[in-house]
Amino acid sequence: MSGEAAVKQGRRAHRLTVEFEIGDAMFERVRALAARIGGIALYERHRAQIARRGARLGLGGAAELEELLSGVERGDARALQCFVELTTTGFTGFFRTPAQFEAAREHIGKAVQRRGWARAWSAAASTGEEPYSLAMALSGLWESGTAPVKILATDINCSALDIARRGEYGPGDVSGLAPAVRARFFTAAEDGKVWRIADEMRQMVEFRVLNLAATEWPVAGSFDVIFCRNVLMYLEPRCRDAVLLRMSELLAADGALVLDPAEHAGRTGALFGRSRQGVYSRAKAGAGP
Ligand SMILES: C[S@@+](CC[C@H](N)C(=O)[O-])C[C@H]1O[C@@H](n2cnc3c(N)ncnc32)[C@H](O)[C@@H]1O
Repeated sequence: MSGEAAVKQGRRAHRLTVEFEIGDAMFERVRALAARIGGIALYERHRAQIARRGARLGLGGAAELEELLSGVERGDARALQCFVELTTTGFTGFFRTPAQFEAAREHIGKAVQRRGWARAWSAAASTGEEPYSLAMALSGLWESGTAPVKILATDINCSALDIARRGEYGPGDVSGLAPAVRARFFTAAEDGKVWRIADEMRQMVEFRVLNLAATEWPVAGSFDVIFCRNVLMYLEPRCRDAVLLRMSELLAADGALVLDPAEHAGRTGALFGRSRQGVYSRAKAGAGP
């Protein structure tokens, strides 16, 4: 390791160990901003988590957090992005709950057979594993040539979407995939340290920033499948209901909404039909919340 690299690493390690406590007033400010910006609900249990994440993001302590919050309040774009990283959890993986991808493949397959094309939306795509898993799951549904399926992948976190767009993953990210799947859909580079998703998969996915709590969503038309997994649980109840209501309006008549099996449609349940393993159909016309 070069002297410079060692110094950098040492500095980073030092920053990681900085004692970082968030006082009541400041935590209230973080909570209010998170709710206003992303509809995100923070509770007491998140206080220490946010302090740890702040240290990881390079915040040296409460004074730097205070500076960040002032930047967010002024509308500074970089501060806003950092705040989003501070208050969101991007944990994800390839083929989380595999049965849901099989169900999605069935829905998409039927739509392609019926009208020749289909659309899907991954509404909290994080670093891309979910939409790319869907792209892989759809493989073989049509003969060679341009895919008749488009996957829109959105998230509030621009940095996560940058990673997703690059489509490059580490060995740990792909270690759960069967070797045949890895060989078919990825190219290994740098002695297996980097696994690049195949262009064919990447071309099916369009990444876009979208805040589910925003009044305007830059999406139009309807979707045959909407994945909205592991994000509702972070949102305030009112925001959660509003998101599901809007999604029900964007689902094709026989489309499917996919939530994590541990989540449920809550007060908007009447908008959707029966669910199997977190896969909801759209309720027949006339049903309301
Ligand atoms: C735990 S990850 C879930 C990733 C993926 N859906 C999965 O299940 O593996 C949650 C994602 O939701 C995103 N998120 C949180 N609040 C959001 C909001 N208001 N609008 C859009 N995305 C949001 C986060 O940035 C994060 O990438």
